[in-house]
Amino acid sequence: MNKPFDLPLSAHFDEEDSNTSTNPNFGSVLKARLSRRGMLRSTLGSAMTAAFGSVALTACGGSDDDSNPVPPTQPSETLLGFTAVAKTLADTATVPTGYTATVVYATGDAMFAGVSAFKNDGTDTGYDRRSGDCHDGMEYFGLSASGAPDPISNDRALLGINFEYITPQFLHVNGPSARPRPAGETDIEVDCHGVGIVEISKTAGKFATVQASTFNRRITGATEIEITGPARAHAALVTKFSPTGTRTRGTVNNCGTGKTPWGTLLTGEENWAGYFYRAAGDNQKRTANANVALARYGRSVTDAAAASSRYGWETSGTQDKYARWDMSVKGVSADGSDDYRNEINGQGYIVEIDPYLATSVLKKRTALGRYAHESAAFSKPVAGKPLAIYMGDDAQNEYVYKFVTSATWSQADATATDRVAVGDKYLDQGKLYVARFNDDGTGNWIELSMSNPAISGYATYAFTDNGDVAIHSRIAGDAVGATKMDRPEWCGVHPTNGEIYFTMTNNSNRRVAPTGTQTQVNAANPRAYTDIKGVSTTQQGNVNGHIVRVRENGGEPGASSFTWDVYLFGAESTASPSFVNLSGLTADQDFSSPDGLVFSPSTGICWIQTDDGAFTDVTNCMMLAAVPGALGDGEKVTLNYGTTTVTTPMGKKPTPNTLKRFFVGPANNEITGLCETPDGKVMFINVQHPGDDTAVTDVGDPAKFTSHWPGNSGYGAGGATARPRSATVMITKNDGGRIGT
Ligand code: FEO
Ligand code: CA
Ligand code: CA
Ligand code: CA
Repeated sequence: MNKPFDLPLSAHFDEEDSNTSTNPNFGSVLKARLSRRGMLRSTLGSAMTAAFGSVALTACGGSDDDSNPVPPTQPSETLLGFTAVAKTLADTATVPTGYTATVVYATGDAMFAGVSAFKNDGTDTGYDRRSGDCHDGMEYFGLSASGAPDPISNDRALLGINFEYITPQFLHVNGPSARPRPAGETDIEVDCHGVGIVEISKTAGKFATVQASTFNRRITGATEIEITGPARAHAALVTKFSPTGTRTRGTVNNCGTGKTPWGTLLTGEENWAGYFYRAAGDNQKRTANANVALARYGRSVTDAAAASSRYGWETSGTQDKYARWDMSVKGVSADGSDDYRNEINGQGYIVEIDPYLATSVLKKRTALGRYAHESAAFSKPVAGKPLAIYMGDDAQNEYVYKFVTSATWSQADATATDRVAVGDKYLDQGKLYVARFNDDGTGNWIELSMSNPAISGYATYAFTDNGDVAIHSRIAGDAVGATKMDRPEWCGVHPTNGEIYFTMTNNSNRRVAPTGTQTQVNAANPRAYTDIKGVSTTQQGNVNGHIVRVRENGGEPGASSFTWDVYLFGAESTASPSFVNLSGLTADQDFSSPDGLVFSPSTGICWIQTDDGAFTDVTNCMMLAAVPGALGDGEKVTLNYGTTTVTTPMGKKPTPNTLKRFFVGPANNEITGLCETPDGKVMFINVQHPGDDTAVTDVGDPAKFTSHWPGNSGYGAGGATARPRSATVMITKNDGGRIGT
């Protein structure tokens, strides 16, 4: 999500900016270091440069899929051989000529047999048996004909889909009621969150969901989940619901995803802090240390000012399921076992779900840290070596992280039947690191644990143990001097050379000459500029975002140091080539606010999705296909801001054959989540929150909806005047070829 919900219910929950640490603003040490060493040059192998070069390829193999209408002769392929899609504000899903986009699964769709068809008029209920709202990260889990895990199945699978948040305007007949919120509305909204596991099956070349599947599962904002890893049973997780601190309920604001090498789904809890109300004066009932922690996670209060909740669920009554969203100290216990003062500490993790067993235990893997999680991308598994999991914390000026497993990879685990036990093996023991991006193009992974004196002796916050470090990893990152980044969103691992790509979506708080809480440019986040939106709206900071690329030293997942460059800078093609459009994007390539980033396991194409509010005067959010080279294949750029100079290693500028716009979504949407069939011939992406600019006061007047998609494309009830819905879209190539060719 990029924009705040425009009710008085809300504030800028995804623009949280609670990092007031003094962590590096490297401007002061820049100049001394800049032009030393011809960094990133000769040591980087040219063999990798053309790993996915735009050479003509022949489609691999024949079709083993009788239901896919592939012509008898396979077409030859050229990666990015399609004609670029133009920027557009049209309220439709636009794909290149020769491709087809089909909606398969939208907000409110029945997920189980016997559930009524979705009316889409605000009267529907029972969302714990329907698709949730705001489809986000998504993974594909192949199924054999007999219902066993089958990683090469192209015609039957389970989709694991995040339901990040809600567009409440359209979930209720007249939009959301004022606070106190009616219990029935809150029940709907809690159920619209979470994750769905839904079977899809192909008939006559088209996938559709299977409502009668025994695999189907809905996990909501109320589903019971185990706490595992270093924070399990921690004092900071004691609640009235779980006096032992070992369980919690619900997963909310699930944004990016990951797929483990053993076939489970990882889902990241992102902007969860704002779901919890904290009363004015609650600061008086907590220790100074506890107040530091809550402020760092966006829940500070004063004697006079409360921290408002996003949706007001805590106002729906005294029942436990509503009261739990009020995190104020209310009980008399010393440990929190009689209230929900610690409830917030049960959110903010990577949650593991075994999609192949609808009754499997869900686990919050606290060893991977607690912050605004996006995706979780694995290093390429190598037998006998640990696995690295790369992650970002999407808030302004937050950090990049990696987790390195204690266990080394055993290929036998890829096909183990007790997948939850395999998760226990890899995800509960290991080391969490935070990234420091040095201005010379090198970087360091700094361990976050009590063995680091900078953490155990940190003056700002007194850590008690490694569980505390896991729960408050942001503060641990502050303590060790991690680099403040421009909102780290998804990351992905290049399937051939193993380099890691991190999207930095944008940062309205980045400045050349900061004031107040603003952050100065540094080499890894080098741009701060002014952009005009529409006629006269001024936007400042890193308006359009960029993509940072990391190579582990020695290619080792457990490396403590790395090199980096900036693969791409988002920009409008007409922007200054020397200060903004540094990658030289053309009109077929320009984009803003990269968010989703997924490498195709089939083609190796790097798919880049946008969640933007800056370029939306010109175009709806989009998805681009990229064929990246390798770290070090470009030049350095020096930005002379007068008194401040920043020099950044850049990737090679794209050509028309290495970056091309592939998809533009409907009005007021973002594009997010991506998975494919193993043969690369069917792609699934999510269109999130179309029409979310619609004012709550306009819900009664369809003419004022800012989108009617996908009803206006013939999907579901409502037609041309439908309420908009988030949806999963299937993309196929009309000649049966792979997507992106
Ligand atoms: Fe849910 Fe950071 O986007
Ligand atoms: Ca975003
Ligand atoms: Ca502009
Ligand atoms: Ca995102």
